[in-house]
Amino acid sequence: MHFRYNFRRMKILGIESSCDETAAAVVEDGVKILSNQIVSQVEIHARYGGVVPEVASRQHILSIIPILERAMLEAKVGWSDLNGVAVTNGPGLAGSLLVGANVAKAVAMARGLPLIGVNHLEGHIYANWLAGIKVTFPALCLIVSGGHSDLVLMRDHGDYYMLGRTRDDAAGEAFDKAARILGLGYPGGPAIDKAAREGAATIKLPRAWLKGSYDFSFSGVKTALLQLSEKGEIPNINDAAASFQEAVVEVLVTKTIEAAKEYRVRQILVAGGVASNKALRNRLIEKAGMPVVIPPPVLCTDNAAMIAACGYYRFMAGKTSNPDMDVIPSMKLA
Ligand code: KG4
Ligand code: ZN
Repeated sequence: MHFRYNFRRMKILGIESSCDETAAAVVEDGVKILSNQIVSQVEIHARYGGVVPEVASRQHILSIIPILERAMLEAKVGWSDLNGVAVTNGPGLAGSLLVGANVAKAVAMARGLPLIGVNHLEGHIYANWLAGIKVTFPALCLIVSGGHSDLVLMRDHGDYYMLGRTRDDAAGEAFDKAARILGLGYPGGPAIDKAAREGAATIKLPRAWLKGSYDFSFSGVKTALLQLSEKGEIPNINDAAASFQEAVVEVLVTKTIEAAKEYRVRQILVAGGVASNKALRNRLIEKAGMPVVIPPPVLCTDNAAMIAACGYYRFMAGKTSNPDMDVIPSMKLA
């Protein structure tokens, strides 16, 4: 198949449907957002206290075409202006991933465009290329999302070495569980972030340092909070939120800086939904002693601009996908 390449002003359509956000975006040359459309299902899932996979895929079916049309309209581009279609094909919920993957295949096939499967976590990392700051290698990526807490050494585009990961709960998952314990609702991360601003970290909670390893563990701090709650020893919810947040942020920041120094990186990149946490952002920038790139909050949580940005770099490296590309719910980054 012959594709139209121009290598300047390359416009990649990105599609994301791995969890509970349906998103489409057009990004030029991997760095310039022409459009970024997102519709969240968070209110639908909130009544169940978490994402219901079957409901999520059906919502994606309803939203994906309107979101795609909105992304094309906002970018002011026609189908023939596109140079490729990038889509998340893992990790995530199988039924949800299939919706985005099949729409991407349909567009690619109809318009004779290259299809580019993107790892959702790699997409989160590439949100940093949309932050308007030049990224230099080697960089250390802290990926903190609903399903991951990873410290990854990035030596070049597409070159990842996993330094550490969570041994139990991911950072976002821990925020969500803590919010449930404190009755702050779902999703928990933004709720804890907000409550913590009204409180002080006065409650002593444990930190799992796991010395000699860059792995994380957040189940202990969550259990400690649960035990205090069950004993009725939480007099102030805002103070409890601030204390929990402090325990998580302190470990994330300390270990990230240790790894950045040991591996002599030139920059720290932060990615994933938890990267929109204000305390984490402020503390890392304050303590790192080296350049820290953190995308604006709307690019930290799930979006398709990051998928299009990553898709551009994969495409430039010749990493396109076949039309029979499958979705891989447990896809790994490294
Ligand atoms: O990256 P993301 O949008 O989806 C996944 O790929 O998992 O991350 C979602 C996670 C949720 O656990 C949510 O509670 C957390 O990110 N989160 C936050 C904040 N905003 C979202 N956690 C802490 N503070 C926030 N402001
Ligand atoms: Zn995500």
